[in-house]
Amino acid sequence: APEQVLAGKKVAITAGPTREALDPVRYLSNHSSGKMGFAIAAAAARAGAEVTLIAGPVRLATPAGVNRVDVISTEEMLAAAERAADDCDLFIAAAAVVDFRPEVVSSQKIKKSEGDDHDVLQLVKNPDIVATIAARSDKRPFVVGFAAETENVVEHAEGKLARKNLDMIVANDVSDPEGGFNSDRNEVILIDRSGRQPLPPALKTELASQLVTLIADRAFAKK
Ligand code: PMT
Repeated sequence: APEQVLAGKKVAITAGPTREALDPVRYLSNHSSGKMGFAIAAAAARAGAEVTLIAGPVRLATPAGVNRVDVISTEEMLAAAERAADDCDLFIAAAAVVDFRPEVVSSQKIKKSEGDDHDVLQLVKNPDIVATIAARSDKRPFVVGFAAETENVVEHAEGKLARKNLDMIVANDVSDPEGGFNSDRNEVILIDRSGRQPLPPALKTELASQLVTLIADRAFAKK
């Protein structure tokens, strides 16, 4: 059995995409499958944690020993994250949250306007879930984010680490066809204020175990 590096710890993890309705039949979303976040949830449970997995709309089975909360929209994911963070030691944000949502959700199916080949969709910014948790002064867990980047991966990830006041960030080059969204494999760099640790390409399930061990060491190891 793996070492129980998270024994007695409560861990909340966001995974998968969010989905923002435009009307009763259409939505904005992205290609996140949830595989990375679900693998982390499974690894954290194997490491002895009590795990709450906040899952967007994905087609994945719940890992053994994990409490799953299903959500659709970003606002639902934020509410579930706030509830879980009230009683958790470690918060890991692997979800691919939709940054903007339609300003108006049409109650009826939106019609094509006659004779016009262009239309405009007004969007409003969604709340930033991981930054909201990391901004807490009370009941603030150790907070780990992901950064999905297509260029200047480390620089952009370090920018997000600082701007969102995270404790660690997992930099993920999502332009790599062998990794990122929907793939079974991934390659990431784990970053905090004391340095960068590249992890070699691996199955998301294997990478998740390594991340859990490294994060637990940084968050909870007695110095
Ligand atoms: O789900 P898979 O198919 O397995 O793919 C895995 C993954 C590529 C989705 C995953 O490894 C990953 O990189 N997740 C983060 C995706 C993302 O949208 O990153 P970002 O750089 O836009 O966001 C930075 C961080 O802020 C992330 O921790 C994100 O969860 C969080 N965030 C972003 C916006 C928002 N409104 N709220 C947030 O909490």
